[in-house]
Amino acid sequence: MIAIKNDREVRAMREACLVAGHVLDEVCAFVMPGITTREIDAYAADRIASRGAKSAFLGYRGYPCTMCISVNEQVVHGLAGSRRIQYGDILSLDVGVILNGFIGDNARTVAAGACDSGHQKLIDVTEMALYEGISKAVAGNRVQDISRAIQTLVESHGFNVVREFVGHGVGRTMHEEPQIPNYVDGTSSPKLRAGMTLAIEPMVNLGRAGVEILNDGWTVVTRDRKASAHFEHTVLVKDGSPEILTCRCVKPSGLKVSS
Ligand code: MF3
Ligand code: CO
Repeated sequence: MIAIKNDREVRAMREACLVAGHVLDEVCAFVMPGITTREIDAYAADRIASRGAKSAFLGYRGYPCTMCISVNEQVVHGLAGSRRIQYGDILSLDVGVILNGFIGDNARTVAAGACDSGHQKLIDVTEMALYEGISKAVAGNRVQDISRAIQTLVESHGFNVVREFVGHGVGRTMHEEPQIPNYVDGTSSPKLRAGMTLAIEPMVNLGRAGVEILNDGWTVVTRDRKASAHFEHTVLVKDGSPEILTCRCVKPSGLKVSS
């Protein structure tokens, strides 16, 4: 059963997602060479609290940090610690908050300073893939239409989508139905209806698609240790254009969004 949010629930989702989006903006602006991932996590905790919200991740299945900070070959669920960010690192920053019983979930990958041009292309393609996917989050389409749009864009640039982790419905809990893979596999997928709220989140590897989990039990890394990028928005499905709930004031320039 995929939850359909009523007007009151949609309003609450908008508020939670706005906080998640603004905190992610603040965290991205905070990143610079020399700081530790623990300092980034502490800053995120401060910014979330300042808006009267709580981390949706801290304590989730025992997750020990406020947010996820995944550096370079780390894909998702990277833990904060004493690691110092170096010029040219790429950081996948994932922020989820809970406000008034509803969750907003979003992520983006940024470079500390400038990064290798191949890594920048990976970042740009992953972000474009997110918007390609979002453009298909329209009532009457199927989940698969989102998945296919993401996979097609990513593979057209020679990169690979991660298969072990997927996007998801989100609302009162972080992971609701449906699952939203970033690839298609022949099986049928649910039809989208107005009022569904979805976290669409391509995870894209520069090299091969395979991933593994480090001994900390959380950090997902690429098997080949090449870089990975991750972008995520929480989106409201409507009859017409989807509404990006984790919106930002500053939209990236030059993004191509298909109809
Ligand atoms: N955005 C991630 C997700 O959708 C964040 C989960 S991290 C966890 O799964 F620690 F909370 F699991
Ligand atoms: Co998510």
